[in-house]
Amino acid sequence: MSAVPKTDEIKTELQHLAQAVNSPAPFMKEVVRLLHTRMLKYNWVGFYMIEESGSGEPPVLVLGPFQGAMTPHTRIQLNQGICGAAASTGKTVVVDDVSKDSRYLACSIETKSEIVVPVFVRGKVVGELDIDSHFPAAFQEEDRDLVEYCAKLVGQYLEKSPA
Ligand code: SME
Repeated sequence: MSAVPKTDEIKTELQHLAQAVNSPAPFMKEVVRLLHTRMLKYNWVGFYMIEESGSGEPPVLVLGPFQGAMTPHTRIQLNQGICGAAASTGKTVVVDDVSKDSRYLACSIETKSEIVVPVFVRGKVVGELDIDSHFPAAFQEEDRDLVEYCAKLVGQYLEKSPA
């Protein structure tokens, strides 16, 4: 058994990956892959990125790289869902029991809990990292810390080199 917590190992791997890839898109794919394969309760992991219409329409969250079952929610308004709540407030949202949250947009009947963490570039929300679990209350302090760390790295990466 390693003495290093798994979340710390993942953070170190992500730092290395951030240096090994040369644009944000492959880095985001790697973040999704790592979290989905290594964190056993993370059953759906994906990014939603904000798309500005440019024609007076409100911005919308558009599904980006993800792993897990296909979701019916490929475009989410900022006033809809847990995803919309995180993007519009710029705050992490953790839901221990999605069946008790009226904002929840169902992706899979197996989902029991969810975390959504905004991604910032120069202080502005540009997207978010969304994770669903088949286990209730899967996202504890350590998980929140890991997912916020991932979102921060992606934000820093995007800031250096827009996707
Ligand atoms: N559950 C999210 C929708 C996205 S799926 O989980 C992939 C929400 O309530 O916004």
